[in-house]
Amino acid sequence: MNSLLALGLLASSSLAGPPRPPRFTATEIFSFTPSNPIFIENLLVLPDNRILVPHFGGPGPDSPLYIVNQTSGTASIIATLPDSTAQTGVAALGNNKYVVTTGVVGANFEFINGSAAAHVLSILPGASTATILDTIPVPNTINLNGLVAVPAASGPPNAERHILLSADSRGGRVLKINTVTRTSSLAFTDPLLGGNPNIPTSIGITGVNGLNWRDRGKDGWLYFTNSAQGTYGRLKVNRQGDKVGNVEIISNIATPPGQENFFDDLAITKRGEAYVTWQTDKLIKVDRNGGQTIILGPSVVGGVVLRYPVAAKLGNSERELYVATGGIDSTGNPLGGQIVKIII
Ligand SMILES: *[C@@H]1O[C@H](CO)[C@@H](O)[C@H](O)[C@H]1NC(C)=O
Ligand SMILES: *[C@@H]1O[C@H](CO)[C@@H](O)[C@H](O)[C@H]1NC(C)=O
Repeated sequence: MNSLLALGLLASSSLAGPPRPPRFTATEIFSFTPSNPIFIENLLVLPDNRILVPHFGGPGPDSPLYIVNQTSGTASIIATLPDSTAQTGVAALGNNKYVVTTGVVGANFEFINGSAAAHVLSILPGASTATILDTIPVPNTINLNGLVAVPAASGPPNAERHILLSADSRGGRVLKINTVTRTSSLAFTDPLLGGNPNIPTSIGITGVNGLNWRDRGKDGWLYFTNSAQGTYGRLKVNRQGDKVGNVEIISNIATPPGQENFFDDLAITKRGEAYVTWQTDKLIKVDRNGGQTIILGPSVVGGVVLRYPVAAKLGNSERELYVATGGIDSTGNPLGGQIVKIII
């Protein structure tokens, strides 16, 4: 762990030079506590500014879904998702509807084949409980990871979405889930979404991880990270969720990926800049040409210390970026997942 950690520090110093003050204002707005050290896996800011925080790992048979009130700085349980011990992806469909993907964790952080599901929830502004509208099984996968809801092909920009794309990190592929037909299928696969046989750990078999969408005319760009290959890239996808262009790599991790050094989930702005979480302690901004700037990390003095950053999402304004962490500190102690807000 120490040598791997040193590698990570080396990478950041060669990238950023000597430690410098933070470039943006970052504030930890919430953290679980060491007595209940929930590993946050993802986040989604709702229109009422509360934050859904799917988490990984629980006793089962059902998992509680937490929501964070930014004003009070507290978390509460808004729903209990049946037959699940891990929550991974989260996306908004519109009309106060949301999807959270889950599974039952087996060996090696994998889902038990046949346990994956997409839960459709209704959460009204300010409501203290969600209604589970549907639970759609997603057979034949051992992983569901980053999730996006594809904007509808027609109708107003806020028309309800029905097609979800989910990264299957272990399968090196992207799955399509249709909330109307309640079916799932292979959307596409590509060698650039797959694993890396040179890395003999669970990171080596964790290909496409984070997903994010940006409109591009009648189609969209699907941005992704690939943990095993240490890449951040994009491809053109249509509003049916099908691949209509080649995969392009935009940026690479500084040193070969490993258990303590890999890209996790990402946020993308309307201008096409990415904010990528970099395990185990960094958040970087990647410009459209692939240039990287460290926003938070050991090379930034006085910034918030990220404990295992797992996901980033924009808030209700394009200037608000939120980062979720698993909450594991640099010595491996579970201190509780954090939510950090950054004005960008
Ligand atoms: C969030 O917390 C504030 C302050 O305690 C409270 O006034 C507000 O009602 C809470 N919001 C929700 C949706 O529970
Ligand atoms: C899941 O189980 C099905 C049915 O037994 C099998 O065909 C498939 O190969 C399995 N998939 C994975 C990813 O293990």
